Amino acid sequence: MEIQGNIAVVTGGASGLGAATAAHFASLGCKVAIFDLDRERGEQHAKDIDGLFVSVDVSDEVSVSAGLDAVENWAGSSVRVLVNCAGIVIGSKTVGKHGAHPLADFEKVIRINLIGTFNCTRLTAARMSEAQPLNCGDRGVVVSTASVAAFDGQVGQAAYSASKAAVAGMTLPIARDLANNAIRVCTIAPGIFMTPMMAGMPESVKQTLGDSVPYPKRMGDPREFAKTAAHIVDNQYLNGETIRIDGAIRLAPR
Ligand SMILES: NC(=O)c1ccc[n+]([C@@H]2O[C@H](COP(=O)([O-])OP(=O)(O)OC[C@H]3O[C@@H](n4cnc5c(N)ncnc54)[C@H](O)[C@@H]3O)[C@@H](O)[C@H]2O)c1
Repeated sequence: MEIQGNIAVVTGGASGLGAATAAHFASLGCKVAIFDLDRERGEQHAKDIDGLFVSVDVSDEVSVSAGLDAVENWAGSSVRVLVNCAGIVIGSKTVGKHGAHPLADFEKVIRINLIGTFNCTRLTAARMSEAQPLNCGDRGVVVSTASVAAFDGQVGQAAYSASKAAVAGMTLPIARDLANNAIRVCTIAPGIFMTPMMAGMPESVKQTLGDSVPYPKRMGDPREFAKTAAHIVDNQYLNGETIRIDGAIRLAPR
């Protein structure tokens, strides 16, 4: 599907990988709506890319539906691309210094990373299904974000890895569900990327993280994630797959 001239929603688009994706898609001539809870950064970024910011909680049904209504009113046509980037990390061991892993933390990570991704996917796909297919045949494309922690989760990542493994795991069945609707579904599993989350770490830690990547010996640039998302939209034969983008890193236990 051509990115130019179409409408995309990027969740988590106020920061990091989502912000880079929103900017890249806008630079390719796409109208981009950012769904995020961070109003200040989201509004500023939307302004910078001539897009729309909507305050949306991805895990909330009413909030996402209202967000999609706002995008349709703004753009005057249907959303064709959804990039799910909203996510959180809470690190905690199954049994740690203070006892068992807090269940509320586990539930929160699953709620936002997994249920939020599915919630946005199902509601956006329902609207894509109502639209006429484009000339290429596609009605829409969904790109979700897992993590290499889906496959080699580290100490303290039980909740995060569970949420991301589930995002990877549901990619094929959702692609199969939506095949008759001409909607493609892929997932990107990033390694270690230089986002605000990482930028705050001490220089020595960043260096060590970069050195742990076989090649190239550095953290990923969010623009490299954005280019992968754009390629998935562009390349019609990509469907039902989870793609690692990680410089060949395999995470150590800790
Ligand atoms: N940075 C990395 O190295 C890395 C590696 C692997 C996977 N990921 C995944 O990529 C995605 C983006 O990560 P990032 O590093 O850009 O993080 P980030 O913290 O920079 O951005 C995440 C954005 O999601 C938003 N968000 C959080 N909860 C939300 C909710 N309920 N509703 C709407 N928006 C919400 C935040 O406000 C924030 O703007 C996440 O899913 C993360 O798990 C990141």
